Amino acid sequence: MEQHIYDWLLQGVFAAAAAFFLILMFVSAPYGKQEREGWGPGVNMRFGWFILELPSFACMLWFYWQGEHRLAAAPLLLFTLFEIHYFHRTFIYPLQLRVKPGARYRVILLLFGMVFNAANGALNGWFLSQLGTHLHNSSWLSDPRFIIGIMLFAGGFALAKQSDAILRNLRQPGESGYKIPYGGGYRFVSCPNYLGEILQWTGFAVAGWSLPALAFACFTAANLIPKALSSHRWYREHFGDYPPGRKAIIPFLL
Ligand SMILES: NC(=O)c1ccc[n+]([C@@H]2O[C@H](COP(=O)([O-])OP(=O)(O)OC[C@H]3O[C@@H](n4cnc5c(N)ncnc54)[C@H](OP(=O)(O)O)[C@@H]3O)[C@@H](O)[C@H]2O)c1
Repeated sequence: MEQHIYDWLLQGVFAAAAAFFLILMFVSAPYGKQEREGWGPGVNMRFGWFILELPSFACMLWFYWQGEHRLAAAPLLLFTLFEIHYFHRTFIYPLQLRVKPGARYRVILLLFGMVFNAANGALNGWFLSQLGTHLHNSSWLSDPRFIIGIMLFAGGFALAKQSDAILRNLRQPGESGYKIPYGGGYRFVSCPNYLGEILQWTGFAVAGWSLPALAFACFTAANLIPKALSSHRWYREHFGDYPPGRKAIIPFLL
């Protein structure tokens, strides 16, 4: 990838994170509990998730394998973690969803998400196997940043997957309403799936000591913290018996 394109895309991801945070603090994204009219046409929810996440998986694969250091151990491990996450998100998660009848993924969200995911996959892939020279020496495998980052990624991944499974199991096949989730991270917060996702990408950024991964972690937090706050408000408004001590996304704090 040309350096000026890389620089331009990287600045774009940081700018998108800042813009999204400001917008989403005032306007909630129109899907799930905040689904509402007036946001244009939509596509089938499962298909929407599939084509939304595919560019991340594909662009990481393509750009990573262009890099000269694609067989070095640390980049290869980070590449594999990224691809495991996106393989699941693209090909498995959409099939597992218990979708409400008539639920649509808005085209406007989809288009932005696909462009963002393509840029994110490309930037991170190119950094891992080409630009991140500190990663290409095997000594990085014993660097504390790598070890702590991988542990954070693994913890976040486990929390996100457990929390998504708890949500999924709230609906029996054919059901479409909302219930209060209990157990796992839900003992502490309303959106442990979002907390897990933020921890995961923060860990990925620390393990790779990487600017594109930091930009993605910032974007994830900018996207999911406002969403957790609005989900938390929604639960409180709709369930009189909602657990009073539960926070939105950071246990005991927020
Ligand atoms: N990296 C990023 O920037 C980013 C951005 C967005 C999402 N994600 C990740 O993608 C995953 C899905 O995100 P999401 O925003 O769609 O999550 P979500 O709003 O929590 O919904 C996940 C699934 O659970 C269902 N659900 C949610 N609350 C429920 C309840 N109380 N009772 C019954 N069913 C319930 C939803 O149904 P409905 O669709 O009918 O509400 C949906 O099928 C999460 O793991 C999230 O971390 C990542």
